[in-house]
Amino acid sequence: MGTISYGLEGKVVVVTGGSRGIGLEIAKELVREKAKVVICGRKKDNLDAACTMLGSGAVSCQAHIAREDEVENMFKAVLDAHSRIDVLINNVGMNLMTPSIPDTDFTLWQKILETNLNGTYLCSRAASRIMRQQKAGAIVNVSSVAGRKASPAMGIYGIAKAGVEMLTKVMASELAQYNVRVNAVAPGMVRTDFSKPFWSNPDLLAHIVKAVPMGRIAEPIEVVHPVLFLASDASSFMTGQTILVDGGATAI
Ligand SMILES: NC(=O)c1ccc[n+]([C@@H]2O[C@H](COP(=O)([O-])OP(=O)(O)OC[C@H]3O[C@@H](n4cnc5c(N)ncnc54)[C@H](OP(=O)(O)O)[C@@H]3O)[C@@H](O)[C@H]2O)c1
Repeated sequence: MGTISYGLEGKVVVVTGGSRGIGLEIAKELVREKAKVVICGRKKDNLDAACTMLGSGAVSCQAHIAREDEVENMFKAVLDAHSRIDVLINNVGMNLMTPSIPDTDFTLWQKILETNLNGTYLCSRAASRIMRQQKAGAIVNVSSVAGRKASPAMGIYGIAKAGVEMLTKVMASELAQYNVRVNAVAPGMVRTDFSKPFWSNPDLLAHIVKAVPMGRIAEPIEVVHPVLFLASDASSFMTGQTILVDGGATAI
C-alpha cells in the first residue's frame, strides 16, 4: 500500500487485542510510525510472540478487557510508564455462532456482551478519565457491519457492536469539550483467525462475497489505515462517526 504517515511518532497508543489479527497489524503500523505502543491480550504466549515480532517499539500488558481490576491496572501501568495516553484503540472483539434470540441461552448472551461491549466500556472509561485531564486524546473503536445489519448466527454480536457504535456517539458528545475525539471503524469480513470458519470454506466464501460489490473480503491492513486516520490529527474535526470498511456491502 506504499508508505503513508499519520504523524503518530512519539504518541502513546494502547491497542487492545494487539497480539493477533487486525490488532497486531495496527500495532505493526504504529511501530513503523514510531509510536509508543502497548498491546494487551489474555494469553501471555500470544503477547510474547507479538512483542518479538514488533520489536522495541511495543510492550505488552496481559489483561482481560472485561475484568475491571485488570483494566484499571493496565491503564495505571501505562500512565506510570509514560505519564500520558494519547490514543486508545478498542480492537478486542469475539463472536460465537448464536441461535435466534428466542432460543438463546442467557449465559451466551452475557459472554458476548461482556467482551464486546462491557470490555470496550471499561477500557474507554479508564482512558477517557486520563484524556479528559490531559485535554487531548483519541479513541477508536473497532465495530462491525454486523452492528448495522441483522446477520444470521451473529445476532448477539451485532447487538453488542450496535452498542459500541452508540457508546462511540455518547462518549464523543460528552468528551468533545475536553478535546477528546471518539470514532469507530466497522469492517465487513476481514481475513483473520476470527472469521476463518467463514472464509476458509470456499462455498461459504463465494456466498459471502456475492453480497460485496467489490467481490472479496478485506485484508487486515485495509482496516488498519482507516483506524490510524481516525487516531491521527488528519481527522481532527471528526468525532462520533463510524467509517464502514466493507467493500460497498452496506451501500446496496
Ligand atoms: N475478522 C473479521 O472478519 C471482523 C469483521 C468485522 C469486525 N471485526 C472486529 O475486528 C476486531 C479484531 O478482530 P480480529 O479478527 O483481529 O480478531 P482475532 O484475530 O480473534 O484477535 C483478537 C485479539 O483480541 C484478543 N482478545 C480476545 N478477547 C480478549 C479479551 N477478553 N481481553 C483481552 N484481549 C482479548 C486476542 O488475544 P487473546 O486471545 O490472547 O486474548 C487477540 O489478540 C474485533 O473487534 C472484531 O469484532 C472483525
